[in-house]
Amino acid sequence: MAFSTITDLDVVATQQHSRELRSRLLATGSSTYVTGPSGAGNGERVLVLGGTGYIGRALVPELARRGYRPVVLARSVQAKNEAEYADAEVIVGDPTLAADVLAAVAAAPTDVVISLLSGRRPNDAEECRLVDHEAVGNGIRAAVAHDVRQFIQVSDFGAYRPELIPQVYKLQVEGELMGQHHGALPWTIVRPTAYFPYLSATFGDVKNGLPYRIFDHGEHSVVNPIAREDLAEFIVNQVLNDDALGRVLPVGGPWTEDNMVTLKGAGQMMFDVTGREPQWDVVTLKAWDKKTARLARLGRFSTQLKPVAFYLEAAKYWSVVDHVAPSYGERTLRGFMERLKDREFPTGSFRERMKSGTNAMPTDI
Ligand SMILES: NC(=O)c1ccc[n+]([C@@H]2O[C@H](COP(=O)([O-])OP(=O)(O)OC[C@H]3O[C@@H](n4cnc5c(N)ncnc54)[C@H](OP(=O)(O)O)[C@@H]3O)[C@@H](O)[C@H]2O)c1
Repeated sequence: MAFSTITDLDVVATQQHSRELRSRLLATGSSTYVTGPSGAGNGERVLVLGGTGYIGRALVPELARRGYRPVVLARSVQAKNEAEYADAEVIVGDPTLAADVLAAVAAAPTDVVISLLSGRRPNDAEECRLVDHEAVGNGIRAAVAHDVRQFIQVSDFGAYRPELIPQVYKLQVEGELMGQHHGALPWTIVRPTAYFPYLSATFGDVKNGLPYRIFDHGEHSVVNPIAREDLAEFIVNQVLNDDALGRVLPVGGPWTEDNMVTLKGAGQMMFDVTGREPQWDVVTLKAWDKKTARLARLGRFSTQLKPVAFYLEAAKYWSVVDHVAPSYGERTLRGFMERLKDREFPTGSFRERMKSGTNAMPTDI
């Protein structure tokens, strides 16, 4: 095989790296964490910030099941009627407002604060600053002021290689906790890999007969995503656990064939689960880089194009950076896709729906 450029060599090398890494991980298994609930509460008050999102909807019921008294600071009163919060206290307030967070912590003696906060528009730098940094900071400052016994920050495995805006703020928050910038506060940082909906974002497209997009060979990186139920159990295991204090805990899902995937592997899983012949939409990274650079240039003058350039960069980041962490839990990506198999998905590709704002990620399971 002849290589015309260094890039061609790199492309081949990443495929080989991913295949070797995946084989090695599948052969060794992961023994860092013991799967299973450990530790139970005795009515301790645990305030969850960002508890109305994807992970929060699994974490809050898990806290209640395990004997804690969960409290959710929700932006909408609607949360009071939602099944996930049946055993939780819901306080209506805005985590970006320091006074609201302080009042939620001060309402009763609070033992633990957990933050799952993250801006819902990761391409909006100001929103990321406001939520991923300022709102989390409100939680840290309130926890310090009220002698909270532990602050658990749910960060991101991407903080090991921060390139996207939210990751940079996650890293900043981690540094502030470690450096005790806001005062003395015992902390635990959890860095999860990807969640299942992210790797299933185009499941509906595949089910509806569209091809699956890959960069080059689709094997630039490897990931072991984690189920939200498993992550919730893992987080609760750390609550008031002395061994978790002052520790950064990277975590992903099982190191098994059904969960340790390249992005092409995730696509292949979709074809397997839906019973379709694989159909790939191959884009070269070289072409993608050119398109991203062009859009980034235009984005300097257009507020509409700037976020698009961000999404192109993010798509590349998630395709080329390994997200492999010690494993916890037994739920697999294939199991998640099996649960998606029988549902109807809106027509039109994921990209078209993103553009029209009707993008529907499967976040209810
Ligand atoms: N997605 C992944 O694959 C992945 C991987 C690793 C780590 N993480 C991190 O894991 C954590 C939990 O993720 P998730 O999927 O559960 O997040 P999510 O579903 O996006 O939930 C985000 C939470 O933050 C709140 N929030 C967002 N924007 C806000 C604003 N402007 N003002 C006030 N509150 C706001 C949301 O409240 P509303 O419900 O009111 O909007 C929600 O409670 C996040 O920190 C995320 O970055 C994600």
